[in-house]
Amino acid sequence: MRYSEEFIEKVRAANNIEDIISGYVKLQRKGSSYMGLCPFHNEKTPSFSVHPGRQTYHCFGCGASGDVFNFIMEYDRMSFQEAIVSLANRAGIAVPENDVTEEQKKAASEKIRLLNIQKDAAMFYYYKLHSQEGKVAVKYLTDRGLSAETIKHFGLGYTGKSGSGLYAYLKKKGHSDRDLKESGLFTFNEAKNTMQEKFWNRVMFPIMDINRKVIGFGGRVFGDAKPKYLNSPETKLFDKSRNLYGLHIARSSREKYMIICEGYMDVITLHQAGFTNAVASLGTALTSQQAALLHRYTKDICLMYDSDEAGVKAALRAVPLLRSAGLNAKIVDLKPYKDPDEFIKAKGSEGLAERIKKAENGFMFEIRILYESYDMSDPQAVSDFYHEAARKLLTFSDEIERNSYASSVSRMYNIAPEVLKRQLGKLAMQGIRSEETPQMAERPGKKKDKTYDRAEKILLSWICQKPETIEMVREYIGSEDFSEGLNRIMADNLFKMYEEKRFNPVAVLNLFEETNEKSDAAAIIEGSLIPEREEDFNKAIKEVMLSVKSASLERKIENLPVSDMAAFQKVMAEKKNLEEMRKLIGG
Ligand code: UTP
Ligand code: MN
Repeated sequence: MRYSEEFIEKVRAANNIEDIISGYVKLQRKGSSYMGLCPFHNEKTPSFSVHPGRQTYHCFGCGASGDVFNFIMEYDRMSFQEAIVSLANRAGIAVPENDVTEEQKKAASEKIRLLNIQKDAAMFYYYKLHSQEGKVAVKYLTDRGLSAETIKHFGLGYTGKSGSGLYAYLKKKGHSDRDLKESGLFTFNEAKNTMQEKFWNRVMFPIMDINRKVIGFGGRVFGDAKPKYLNSPETKLFDKSRNLYGLHIARSSREKYMIICEGYMDVITLHQAGFTNAVASLGTALTSQQAALLHRYTKDICLMYDSDEAGVKAALRAVPLLRSAGLNAKIVDLKPYKDPDEFIKAKGSEGLAERIKKAENGFMFEIRILYESYDMSDPQAVSDFYHEAARKLLTFSDEIERNSYASSVSRMYNIAPEVLKRQLGKLAMQGIRSEETPQMAERPGKKKDKTYDRAEKILLSWICQKPETIEMVREYIGSEDFSEGLNRIMADNLFKMYEEKRFNPVAVLNLFEETNEKSDAAAIIEGSLIPEREEDFNKAIKEVMLSVKSASLERKIENLPVSDMAAFQKVMAEKKNLEEMRKLIGG
């Protein structure tokens, strides 16, 4: 979908950047611009500036910058088109109809029909629950502590004992077989030409999107049969990785933070107990898209996963994932109870509120689990632990934050602050930034075959943060020296923008359509810590360049056509250059 330049400019003119941004960020006038705390990275002193004259924003801390459209795209995680529509709506400007293609119209009307099926099915299940046949399901839910009000609030339902009736009901409502096949509610048997209901004899939990539209269901058996929960398959409406159970209510909670738990019943019990800010991922691990979705509403997350080993693992995955989406996570300890549902039954809301107050900082949680994975009576393990802890600390690009965590870690684990500091300095100089992987107990060496990838990413990041270095880099390295994929695309465009004198790293993000690609690219830009001392930086960047270049040459040599002498000579000449470069910096 393309909107005309004219329309885009009209929308821009109607949305003053300082008005729009001050809706999200507290801004203070400073001369001809405004300053505030950057919404795109964690900081305690304002380095985010909005320039009304140019109608742009820029963060001196993380380098985020752009116009009013970029801001909405970044902040609300929208595509360019979505940002235009959103800003047009705010300003009361009609979005031109003819800009919508036939295909989009068709998709939109199919989506409406599919939504209507889900809504009608939810109604059907709801009626069933409140019918004679549904008494057993009401009893089940009541026995589990849910009030009639809660059952209604979440639109819970019942399928009926055997699967029959839903198909006839939906047909009577006028839905076509073609749409019903797309609904995920039936299994179509081609040979017999029958539609079989997927859900039967289950309590039904309608899953809604943020606009309170039903997009799918989870269904629970009464007893111990398997699977305990059956969920709607992925459909054109239902993408598990992009929705969260309960968010349609939690989004308007007055609490400043959100609770993430594991299950449907956890969410419902939490809400009933007054924690209306609880959501759950839908029977899968938390995804980066879900984190991005939450980022629209809050910066602070309370993780309330089950207190078993799987719950700890899930939290270890979630913490860095949330962090890279710009969210702070705290971990609530529910022991000795299994999950929020059981905890509340035993200790009530006051008990849980106490635990939330005592929640453990996400980073300190990671470090603690790491610590517990080592046998501290072994000197090698102690040194490995220090090393890993330092690597983890380097994931904070904000210096104040990093230092404050470093002192907490050294206090908590009796590491002399100087030792930790030296270790940090050493790693920063090597340009090694801990990768935010969930398998943190994994020993370093394992990632060896990926060192070139890391070197490329560091180089890209430093170029973005210190554009003047590109002059020197360009002399030795071209975009073809980067490995194919994200790194190459970014390098291509950074070099090109630099040559065309329109260097703006953030604009590179516009190249990527998918949110996860966008955030991977953003992670690269903001990614690597720059060594503080100029001389350290100069030494480190040369080392990084060397490793990018030599990996690139290795690749070239590997792929040399046997008979092409000219190509061979060219590569050999480059190799000689590399040797000289290596001597020059004494590497
Ligand atoms: P749990 O097994 O922890 O169940 O699964 P629970 O939430 O405590 O459920 P109750 O209290 O016994 O009713 C947590 C979540 O994982 C998904 C569901 O979303 C569930 O709420 N799940 C679990 C499934 O999708 N399928 C399953 O078979 C089991
Ligand atoms: Mn449970």
